[in-house]
Parts: sequence; C-alpha cells; structure tokens
Amino acid sequence: MKAPTILETAKALVAGDKGLLAMDESTPTCNRRFAALGIPQTDDVRRAYREMIVTTPNLGQCISGAILYDQTIHQETKAGIPFVKVLIDAGIIPGIKVDAGAKDLAGHEGEQVTEGLDGLRERLAQYAQMGARFAKWRAVIAVGDGIPSRGCIEANAQALARYAALCQEAGLVPVVEPEVLMDGDHTLARCAQITEEVLRAVFEQLYLQQVALEGMLLKPNMVAPGLACGTPATVVEVADATVRCLLRAVPAAVPGIAFLSGGQSSELASARLNAMNVRFKTRVPWALAFSFARAIQQPAMEIWRGEEANVPAAQQALFHRADCNRAARRGEYTAAMENT
Ligand code: G3H
Repeated sequence: MKAPTILETAKALVAGDKGLLAMDESTPTCNRRFAALGIPQTDDVRRAYREMIVTTPNLGQCISGAILYDQTIHQETKAGIPFVKVLIDAGIIPGIKVDAGAKDLAGHEGEQVTEGLDGLRERLAQYAQMGARFAKWRAVIAVGDGIPSRGCIEANAQALARYAALCQEAGLVPVVEPEVLMDGDHTLARCAQITEEVLRAVFEQLYLQQVALEGMLLKPNMVAPGLACGTPATVVEVADATVRCLLRAVPAAVPGIAFLSGGQSSELASARLNAMNVRFKTRVPWALAFSFARAIQQPAMEIWRGEEANVPAAQQALFHRADCNRAARRGEYTAAMENT
C-alpha cells in the first residue's frame, strides 16, 4: 500500500471530531508531575503509566494521533507489544516530540529558545522508520515586563520553521507549537497582542523556509489572561479573542489548529474549545481541534497513582476527557457531561 502523503496525514489528524493526545512529557517533566502525586519516579513506573494510556479501551474513537517522547517510542507493553503497534492497531497515528527543550537565550534574561536542530535530519529518518508520521516542536514565549523581545520571537520562529522544513523533507507532518505561556498577570488583550505577533513571525519564517502549509498543523495557546491576572475572562471572551487572533495571523491553507491546554483545568479547556466551535466552526477555514496533555491526562494520573489496581478507573477517566474534547470539536460539550 502507498504510504500516505504529509497532506493526507495532516488532514487525517484533524478529521471529523477527533484530536491529538500529547503524551510526550520529557523525563524531568513527567517526574515532576509524578512527584506532585507521590508516584515513584523510575523508568519502569513511567513505562507502566504510558502503557495505561495507550491501552485505554476505545481511545481511537476520540484520538487521531498520539505524541510520544524518545524514550516512549522505544518502549513496549508488559506483554512485549511496542507502543507504536498498540497505537496503530487502535487506529491512532503515532507522532514524536523532536525538540531538545527550551534553553536560556543568551543576552535575553527571562527568555528561552528551543534547541534540537543538530542531527535532526538523521533523527527524523529514524523516527519515520519506527512508524512516526508526524513530529512536534515546542517553542515557549514568556510574558513579563519588557518581554517577549523581538529577538526571542524571531529566534524561536526561525527554529520552528527549520524544524518544520526538515520534517516535511522526511515525510513527517510538523506540528508547529509556539506557546505563549499563561504564567504571569498579563491581561487577555496583552496575550492577544503577543500571540498575534508570534504567529505572524512564525508564518513569515515558515514561508521563507518553504514549508507547505497544507502539510502542517499549528499547535498554539488559546488567547487567555495570565494565571495571576486579576481580571478574569469568560469562556466566550476567550473563544472570541482566540479566533480573532488566528483569523488575523494564520493562513487558510493550514488544515488544522490543535490547541495546547497550557495549564488550564480540563473542564475549562473543553469549554473554551467547545465555544470556539459553537461560534465559529462553519466560518473558519481550519479545523479547531485539540492536542492536550494535562487537560486529558491529569485526572487519569491522579486516579492511577502508580497502582495496577487503579488502571481501569484511570483509563475510564482518560477516555472521558478525550470524549469531552471530541464533543467540544462538534460544539456539543456541556458541563452535564462531567457528571456522567
Ligand atoms: O508541549 C506541550 C504539550 O504538547 C501540551 O501540553 O496541553 O499540558 O499544555 P499541555
């Protein structure tokens, strides 16, 4: 059978009402989340956690693609089945995080640039051979006094574009993730202004690096006030500000936008995505989808707590969140779903 093209894969990832599950936490991030719940931070416990996720019954009904981490893509279930095969058998397209993390940007206090371009061509070829069909790179943009600087935005945008071009050369769909962080007391208006500036810079660089927009996905933050902002925004205000910003900065050729959750509660992430689809689904050129990590995994992790006996209940919680987000893609999510 002919291998799917990047255009076909990009479309498949945001087709219908499904979305992506990000399970690509680096080892330090995964350990931090385990530590907060008193879960032992060992290789084997991390493997067991990922096995719980990928073997969740019926996950493929809601999830089109799962983003793995380098260690995870090499792992298998206790019964010896590679995670990649488990996903493919469930109808889920395997993907991989390929950046090497955000590092301090020299000369720019409080700002970071994501590294990982060295040797990327070779790594992408290996991941493609292992079955990955898409790849993710996350840039982080901090908001604060006098930041982000133009230097930080440009450095991250250029790295994202170079990674995206290399992905397409390797036959993988780039999931381009410029995340404006929610940490801080900035207002919704400031988040909107920065997100628009960042997205414009990213698409300028994607153009310069000759990235085919039809064969990529964008993974942005929602436009929302900072976590410490004293002026909260309603679900509808966030939905409207987010779509307004995207309409200004994201070309119509991009097939889909799959939001990160960024530290919002699971329910809020579903409600905001739902509001976007209720209000704009028929009027925007791209699919409005999800690529959540915490907003899908967190309730399941809290139930699982490293105990084999908790696997069925944790899987039920994971499926529930995936199903809520699937409903949000159709604009059919309601708070009542949380009580079922
Ligand atoms: O890079 C970040 C993840 O892919 C998305 O994580 O939904 O917890 O923000 P999050």
